[in-house]
Amino acid sequence: MAGSQTVTGFGPGKVILLGEHGVVYGYPALAAPLSVGVTAHASFAKRPKLEVPEAVRGEARKLLLAAFDAAVKAAGSPPVHVSLRSDLPPSMGLGSSAAVSVACARVLLQAASGKAPSGKEVAHIAWQMERVFHGTPSGVDHTTSALNAPIHFRRRPDADRASVKEVDCPATLKLLVLLVGQRPSTKQTVAALRARQAKWPERYARIFDEIGHLADEGREAVEEGDPELLGDLMNMNHGLLAALGLSSASIDDAVHLLRAQGAFGAKLTGAGGDGGAVIALFEDADAVRRRLRKKGYTCFTSQIAGPRTLL
Ligand code: PMV
Repeated sequence: MAGSQTVTGFGPGKVILLGEHGVVYGYPALAAPLSVGVTAHASFAKRPKLEVPEAVRGEARKLLLAAFDAAVKAAGSPPVHVSLRSDLPPSMGLGSSAAVSVACARVLLQAASGKAPSGKEVAHIAWQMERVFHGTPSGVDHTTSALNAPIHFRRRPDADRASVKEVDCPATLKLLVLLVGQRPSTKQTVAALRARQAKWPERYARIFDEIGHLADEGREAVEEGDPELLGDLMNMNHGLLAALGLSSASIDDAVHLLRAQGAFGAKLTGAGGDGGAVIALFEDADAVRRRLRKKGYTCFTSQIAGPRTLL
């Protein structure tokens, strides 16, 4: 990249279809990218700099700048100014920090080498940012975003690397994402669960283990293009997340609303706690989106697996 040239990179948001939280303890998860995400633009300059969006202030601004610095160093300090545009609601369990990390990683690597980086290279740089944002994340968010494909993900305790398998799907699977409202940070919810789990490790391990089995079965459901099976697994996963203390009245109300609209299955996605996003698999997700929007709900649809005819 030279002179006035600019580089653009996209980081999709993500949903965890099955296996959030268990994935932090080394059990499998199944995740997929969203069609919405974060776009980074980089233009040649004297030194690397991030233009922080107006809406990002205070601690969040400091964290974003520190994360960007970590990525800049890891990418060889290419002299570019980077700006961001996001279509993702932040802090809703939809992987907005991972999408920022992946979009930044893509433009920094491309600026440094002059060629399009591989998904693996992007994931490596994005991980430097995610660790600043979240401390000790499982890595499922940025890996899904960097590969831009449904994945089966597992990072065993103390393993350097995760086992990551892209999952093909013969059918188009479309989700409805319903935003339930503000929620605590992922860090807080993960820490509160860790305290409960440390007190009663065996009982919590039994639930994580079952959630991991659901994620393994979900991989087969996606490979077979079977929304009925995937939906049933999602319903069961939601019940287990509730058993772990990760749901709330507002989340459960949204799950039941979506099931009453004919969903194959519905569950909270991401850290949960109280609020965030609920996902549901439908035969015709767009028809349900139109109905719910008329009633004032905030929701959108996204293809999450199957042949990509990008919207
Ligand atoms: O809510 P999010 O998008 O931050 O997702 C969190 C997923 C967890 O499994 C709860 C944490 C992790 O690091 O995987």
